[in-house]
Amino acid sequence: MNTTRRTFIKQVSGGLIGTWALVSVPETSSARYIISNGQNVLPEDEQFWKIVRDQFPLTHDRIYLNNGTMGPSPFVVREAVKSFIDNIDVSGEYGGWDAARPKLAKFVNVDESEISLTHNVTEGINVVTWGLPLKRGDEVILTNHEHAGNALPWLNRAKYDGIVIKTLKPAQTAEENLNRINDLITKKTRVIAIPHITCTIGQVFPAKEISKLGHEKGLWVFFDGAHGPGMTMLDLKDIGCDFYATCCHKWMCGPKGTGFLFVRKEMLDALEAKWIGGGSDIGWDMTVDPPEFKGYVNTAHRYDFGTQNAAIYQGLGASIDFLYHIGMDNIVRRGKALSGYLQKELMKLDNVEMLTPTEDESRGFVTGFRLKNMPYDKFGEHAGKKGFRIRLVAENKLNSVRVSTHIYNNFDEVNKFIEAVKEVG
Ligand SMILES: Cc1ncc(COP(=O)(O)O)c(C=O)c1O
Repeated sequence: MNTTRRTFIKQVSGGLIGTWALVSVPETSSARYIISNGQNVLPEDEQFWKIVRDQFPLTHDRIYLNNGTMGPSPFVVREAVKSFIDNIDVSGEYGGWDAARPKLAKFVNVDESEISLTHNVTEGINVVTWGLPLKRGDEVILTNHEHAGNALPWLNRAKYDGIVIKTLKPAQTAEENLNRINDLITKKTRVIAIPHITCTIGQVFPAKEISKLGHEKGLWVFFDGAHGPGMTMLDLKDIGCDFYATCCHKWMCGPKGTGFLFVRKEMLDALEAKWIGGGSDIGWDMTVDPPEFKGYVNTAHRYDFGTQNAAIYQGLGASIDFLYHIGMDNIVRRGKALSGYLQKELMKLDNVEMLTPTEDESRGFVTGFRLKNMPYDKFGEHAGKKGFRIRLVAENKLNSVRVSTHIYNNFDEVNKFIEAVKEVG
């Protein structure tokens, strides 16, 4: 055992806590991993979750409840990014972003060939929106709870090509949502293109059942998966959708500007690659007449190309390791316990109108609500003054409040937020 490692273990109550360990990685760095050693950790185990919190440089000057917008990274991710930037600038060599592909594939249980690297959710959405061979009059189902990132690409395609957008009004249960989607499907429907989890109230849609329904009706099924990885035990093979666009800078706490698009193998030729470049092809020749394009690679790499920032994709690898070391099952239990507690307590208050479904399978780490006695923006001011960073939801005329809770939050912070709501009651 090296000195650094021994030091960190000492920092934790004089040694190992139960079967968990704190280890420093890499050895020269002050960054640390907490390792649950595959053990189930109770969501109420504040000692364990306090150590997790300590892995984040996130300020203690305010209470951050806005992971739905941006997930702060832990030290290990920052260290990995920084050291790779140094590596590039010192060595004068570049490359290394492809290392993220197999890690991401394993993380969401798909094949490496089905992963295209992107820089955010919207980029992946645009690849799908413009890559599907749709014609005037074809219908696409979205919701009336969209983020701009999913609404605008489809609205843009409608503007250029005359596709027709039908909107689902989300219901409170998975079963009713399936019924509503079914009711929206007509002979002209070609695509279901809804969020896996909405940005507005954190509603989790039954992705597997929706994929099944869509495929029975001969449709393409696409999810805007901005909030899926890091908040759920995301298994895209099991879900069975055709396309899933997401980012790594929210619930995975990865570097900002990292994301990926899953394209199911069988869909590679259906989804046209409208933008290509170095890495997309199997060969080309400008010295013959006419110049020759030999075709695309037989993987989702055909949708991404050119020089990338290897440092952020290397940092992404570190964030995946960080999540594995805590255990995604532990993370899901903790996140849902915090949001479940917040939801229950808020629902006891007379001035709260809860918007997030209470059905367990339809909710995740995000809680959305309105105050009956106060405009949402006025409450936003109050919460800001009290030291909370939350998100106000003006989109889709919801005029509501959104609170996100992640692994670095705790019950004490949630209680403080509930007190802030009581104060305006
Ligand atoms: C549901 C949803 N879709 C799309 C986006 C856009 O994500 P990005 O900024 O990574 O493109 C967001 C961002 O908050 C979102 O919540």
